[in-house]
Amino acid sequence: MSSTGLKEAPSKTRDRITPIQNQSARTIQKFGTVIADLPLGLSEEVRTKMTAELNLMLADTMSMRDLYKKSHWQVSGPTFYQLHLLFDKHHEEQSELVDLLAERIQTLGGVSIAMAPDVAEMTRLERPPRDREEVPVQISRLLQAHKLILENARKLAKMADDRGDDGTNDILVSNVVRTNELQVWFVSEHTVDMPLVRAE
Ligand SMILES: [Fe+2]
Repeated sequence: MSSTGLKEAPSKTRDRITPIQNQSARTIQKFGTVIADLPLGLSEEVRTKMTAELNLMLADTMSMRDLYKKSHWQVSGPTFYQLHLLFDKHHEEQSELVDLLAERIQTLGGVSIAMAPDVAEMTRLERPPRDREEVPVQISRLLQAHKLILENARKLAKMADDRGDDGTNDILVSNVVRTNELQVWFVSEHTVDMPLVRAE
């Protein structure tokens, strides 16, 4: 008891409110492994294979997301405003796919990639230049990237279906394939050579 009659604060109070910084320890799960014995009714072998493939799809989708932001920032010309808005909308939709894919990997007991250097190493999409490009070139890049993702997503959906991984199959078909297909439509219509003012 202190002279005031109040119980004294523990002497370690200051230590308890000080943020503990610069901590390190061994990692808790190695990349490329899956948690054993998850009650999902899917074998470790299936989950290892699917998480490896999903990480490639995640890397491609993160590249696609970033390609849309690059296009959103660097677009130019008479269709600037509509494309500026459209590219940002597609960027948002690709971001949602990124989250779905990453969380599917974690759900299956795997480890999802997250950082740009890992994306750069793993993506199958062609790297665009840092320079600005004309709208038709931007659109060609986006369409080429969509085509590659769609081909891989359909193959991966079939692989998931063959292995009984219905949840992964559903995400690939209902989200990845359908979102990318719709975005192809909206983007590709901008390269149809239609008269703008006078009918031909
Ligand atoms: Fe913006």
